[in-house]
Amino acid sequence: QSSVLHKFKGILFSTMSSEELLNSLDSFDAREDDVFLVSYPKSGTHWIAEVIENIPNARITLTPPIELGDISKLEELKTYSERRVIPTHLSYDMLPMNIKQKQCKIIYIIRNPKDTAVSLFHYYRDNPNLPSIETWHEFLELFLRGDVVYGSWFDHILSWEEHKNAKNILIIFYEEMKKDPSKNIKKITTFLGLNVSDSEINKIAWKTSFSEMKNNTAEENCDPNHTICALTSNRKLVFRKGAVGDWINYFTSKQKRVFDELFTEKMKHSELAGHFRDYS
Ligand code: A3P
Repeated sequence: QSSVLHKFKGILFSTMSSEELLNSLDSFDAREDDVFLVSYPKSGTHWIAEVIENIPNARITLTPPIELGDISKLEELKTYSERRVIPTHLSYDMLPMNIKQKQCKIIYIIRNPKDTAVSLFHYYRDNPNLPSIETWHEFLELFLRGDVVYGSWFDHILSWEEHKNAKNILIIFYEEMKKDPSKNIKKITTFLGLNVSDSEINKIAWKTSFSEMKNNTAEENCDPNHTICALTSNRKLVFRKGAVGDWINYFTSKQKRVFDELFTEKMKHSELAGHFRDYS
C-alpha cells in the first residue's frame, strides 16, 4: 500500500506502531487494576475516554495507546503511578497475554459497521498518517476486504464474540450511548467500581456531548501526550459529525446490498452484530 502503513501478522498497522513494539506486546506487564479501552477505529473511542476522564475522584490516568510508538512504550507505561486506562485498537487475539491472564477490566466500544466505514473513509482523507484515498467506492472495497488499518471490522468484532459475557468485559454500543448517554455512563462507572451520583452522571453526559467535545477541541492546543487513537494526536481530526445513520448519504443501493450480503454471511452467528440489524 503506502509508506504510512505496514503489515504485521497479516494486518495493516500505522508505521507509528513499530514492528518491534508489536512483537513485544506479550512482555507487557499488566496490573490487576488496569483498564483497557478497546475499539475498532472510529467507533467512539475518544468519547468513552472523555467520559472516563470526567468521572470525579476516579484516580485514573489515561495513557497513550499501548501499540503507539516503539519498544520504549512498554517502559514508559511503567512510570504511571495511578490506575491506568490504556486505549488500544487491537483485536482480542492481539491483546497482550498478561491482560487476559490477570483478567483486567476491558471496555469494548462498538459502532454499526456502515457508519464506522464512512467515518474511517473521512479519516483516511483527512489524516496525514493514513494513505490517501480517491473515492468512497475505492475505500469501501478496501474496508470490505479488511485491507484497512487494524484489518477487517468483521474479524475484529468476531474476535470479541466469545468473550462478550466475561465479567471483566463491558461492551458499549455507540448507538445506545447516543440514545441514552446517562444510562451508559452509569454502566461504565459501575463497571469501574466507582460510586457516582446521578447528578454527576448527568453532568458528565452534558460535558461529553458531541458539540461540547467538538467546541472544546477547537479551542485546545493539541497535546501529543493526550493521544487516544494510535493514528493521530490531532483531536481536530476526530469530531466530524457524530451521528447515527450518516451512511445513508454514501452507500448506493448496490453498495448496501453487497455490504449486507457480506454482513449476513460473516456475522450470522454473531450476537454482537445482531445489535446492528436495526441500523441497516
Ligand atoms: P464521525 O466521523 O462519524 O463523526 P474514534 O474516537 O473511535 O476515533 O471515533 C470517532 C467518531 O466518533 C467520529 O465519528 C466522531 O465524530 C465520533 N464522536 C466523537 N465524540 C463523540 C461524541 N461525544 N458523541 C458522538 N460521537 C462522537
